[in-house]
Amino acid sequence: MAFLHIALVLLTTSIGVNAVLFTLENRCDKTIWSGIQASVGHPQLMEGGLELKPQQSRNVTAPKGWSGRFWGRTGCKFNVYGEGTCTTGDCGIGLYCNGASGEPPASLAEFTLDSPLDFYDVSLLDGFNLPISIFPYGDSGICPSIRCDTNLNLYCPPNLQVRGDGGEVVACKSACTAFQTPEYCCTGSFQNPNRCKPTRYTQYFKRACPTSYTYVYDDPENTYTCRETNYLVAFC
Ligand SMILES: *[C@@H]1O[C@H](CO)[C@@H](O)[C@H](O)[C@H]1NC(C)=O
Repeated sequence: MAFLHIALVLLTTSIGVNAVLFTLENRCDKTIWSGIQASVGHPQLMEGGLELKPQQSRNVTAPKGWSGRFWGRTGCKFNVYGEGTCTTGDCGIGLYCNGASGEPPASLAEFTLDSPLDFYDVSLLDGFNLPISIFPYGDSGICPSIRCDTNLNLYCPPNLQVRGDGGEVVACKSACTAFQTPEYCCTGSFQNPNRCKPTRYTQYFKRACPTSYTYVYDDPENTYTCRETNYLVAFC
């Protein structure tokens, strides 16, 4: 029994040491609801959703080697059971996304940890709904921050705009989502980095968020040698 007890303590301790801490912080002036979707084979964190009041931050612990994405949802109305919908980023099943993805357009913070280094990016391939940035902290290695803190909705081209009930622009579609053509989605004969190039649409996104992915073959030119670090994911 004593041996078993020691083994359990060691096991618990090593999980504690190897866990990764994500701090989600809402820097927007409105409440947002973060969605969290684990990649296939990884555990869902916080049942896939949580509320963040303005200026609120919350910690989410992920096991070593976790892979998945965070995004923000806006204009949500949930009842006490977490049932309801959002204006942007809605995952279709309420507050707790439990593996469901957010509806585009939604800006994404994506992570693949310990493989063997940590890889992370901000992706606007599915469009933009909220500014989102990644700040590694407590790092060993070179861990660049990724800032996408400009409100792109203010500069969204008219044919990519998504408007809310009040007529305001609440999100900005990617050209791929809006037009569904091989040229913009890098599919078919454009499934090739020499043929699928930045467009005048991706350039709006690039100007606002230079270190994010704006089309499939984009190269944000960050080098990551990050490991055993924690991450602040900031909205706005
Ligand atoms: C999150 O964890 C960090 C590091 O342990 C701590 O400094 C911070 O106060 C925590 N934040 C919240 C909101 O619990």
